[in-house]
Amino acid sequence: MRYTTLSVGVLEIDLQHANIDQLLFELTDENRMLVVDRITNALIRHFLAEERLCAEQGLLMTDEHRREHERLSGVLRMLQDQIKKEDPDRETILRTYSNILVEHVTRFDAFICERETSGGGGGR
Ligand SMILES: [Fe+2]
Ligand SMILES: [Fe+2]
Repeated sequence: MRYTTLSVGVLEIDLQHANIDQLLFELTDENRMLVVDRITNALIRHFLAEERLCAEQGLLMTDEHRREHERLSGVLRMLQDQIKKEDPDRETILRTYSNILVEHVTRFDAFICERETSGGGGGR
């Protein structure tokens, strides 16, 4: 229960969030550097996929949300380097990613189903 703290209501996006949570569940003291690399790559790919899916399905992807993906991608790269240098324990790593994911999903992803054009305007 991190990225999947709440369902955004789009199957493909919820599945990608669940996959990222799954990577966090797999984190151990032994494999943590490998898993951090996987989570970083999976998240950065996911942000792009989420933007594409929203565009394809006419879902709400605000400029603010897009900018946050960009900012977070930078943060995630920095974090990856920092973890390699400082070698924190599994719990610290888990807590750090959990906080990032819960914050992102509740502040941004939660609203993508509030479609950009909600009726009112003729045409289909
Ligand atoms: Fe997402
Ligand atoms: Fe997002």
